Amino acid sequence: MALPGRPKVRRVSSHDAQLNALNLRSPTVIVPPQYLMAPSDANETAAAMELARHEIEDDATADSSPLTPPTSTVTDKFAFAFDIDGVLIRGGRPIPEAIEAMQVLNGKNDYGIKIPYIFVTNGGGKTEEERCVQLSKQMDIEISPGQFICGHTPMREMAAKYTTVLVIGGEGEKCRQVAEGYGFKDVVTPGDIIKHDPDTTPFRKLTEEEHQNSRKRDFENTTIEAIFVFADSRDWAGDQQIILDLLMSKGGKLGTRSETFDEGPPIFFSHNDIVWSASHDLTRLGMGALRLSLEAMFKAVTGKDLVTTAYGKPQIGTFEFATRLLKQWRKATHGINEPPETVYFVGDTPESDIRGTNEYNKHTDNRWYSILVETGVYQPGTTPKFTPSATVPNVLDAVLHGIERENQRQQKLKFQQELNTTGGKLQEFALLSPSPNTEKSNPLDAAV
Ligand code: G3P
Ligand code: MG
Repeated sequence: MALPGRPKVRRVSSHDAQLNALNLRSPTVIVPPQYLMAPSDANETAAAMELARHEIEDDATADSSPLTPPTSTVTDKFAFAFDIDGVLIRGGRPIPEAIEAMQVLNGKNDYGIKIPYIFVTNGGGKTEEERCVQLSKQMDIEISPGQFICGHTPMREMAAKYTTVLVIGGEGEKCRQVAEGYGFKDVVTPGDIIKHDPDTTPFRKLTEEEHQNSRKRDFENTTIEAIFVFADSRDWAGDQQIILDLLMSKGGKLGTRSETFDEGPPIFFSHNDIVWSASHDLTRLGMGALRLSLEAMFKAVTGKDLVTTAYGKPQIGTFEFATRLLKQWRKATHGINEPPETVYFVGDTPESDIRGTNEYNKHTDNRWYSILVETGVYQPGTTPKFTPSATVPNVLDAVLHGIERENQRQQKLKFQQELNTTGGKLQEFALLSPSPNTEKSNPLDAAV
């Protein structure tokens, strides 16, 4: 839908979406084919978030956009942010309750309201646009790339600092494409290095396709300024060998060895999840495990500590980015230059989702409320390392919990307002009435 005074948002079928069509940088919503004729209930949130995302990526627009609220059927009071793996998707398939959870957010609830939402995942290895097409197909819902924050999304800001970078992880050439899309000018892959010198990795040979895709380059005259692990490595042994070679090099020149082992390029990981929830019944090793193993190997080989940096959850920057997006969305759709009063973050991993939400809640003026689900990394019956505001079986329960909490909160606020206007005459009634706050058992929520 076209929002007054803002650019039109294209609607592209999830079946026809081509990467090149998505890379045009014009605001786009991905639409399951059955909704192409008429926008679905999810369209308004998807389109408005997409515009807000384009605006925050162009700072000037974000600062100058006027506070002229158009009509919106979506509440501005609260929003949801969803982790993906273990909350909405597991092993490429939607978690059954996830579809209904989205329907509830898009109006099928007791109050007839629509609630805005975004996706904050540590996963990556594809562009935000590709992830959007994938999730739209998996969940059969209209979604925009603007609603997506991946672990590697903030890495785009490093493109201004580093020119020649090594990019690790993901399928085939995908991470090179993501990095180039973020503006990195000269992107090297492990494939390029192995093509140049196959002896680099004694146990890894390039396939014919990899050999063709890998670029021929002159590594004698190449300085790799930084290493970015964009997605999970598909070949730990080969990738770790190449990373270690560079970390131990003189200033990022392959084939050299530093004597002090402190001249190598910096290394950045798009997240730090040691395990994650995939199709296997038990959790699988993730990027955080690669990071740990690299640090241990560097120490074993050089005797020195390796300094590494991770993005994604639980890093505060990820939550700050989400807040900027929600703030811009609220400003543009409701004319209020503040983020929603409460953001419900639904996650399955205490160490990244719950920890990040709780930490960020301490730093911010609005309320970030963490909800832990039992469909992913967290094992029901155990004590999570970081205590959530609430624990529920699945994402549908999480959505219903948030909506009910908001309902009670609004009732409480209304009651207080009435109390103020009647000059305290309702005080006696208030003392006799049951408290509208039913969450007293949870100390984190003593103040709503
Ligand atoms: O590799 C992806 C994984 O570590 C976590 O993804 O969606 O649970 O943040 P998500
Ligand atoms: Mg998860």
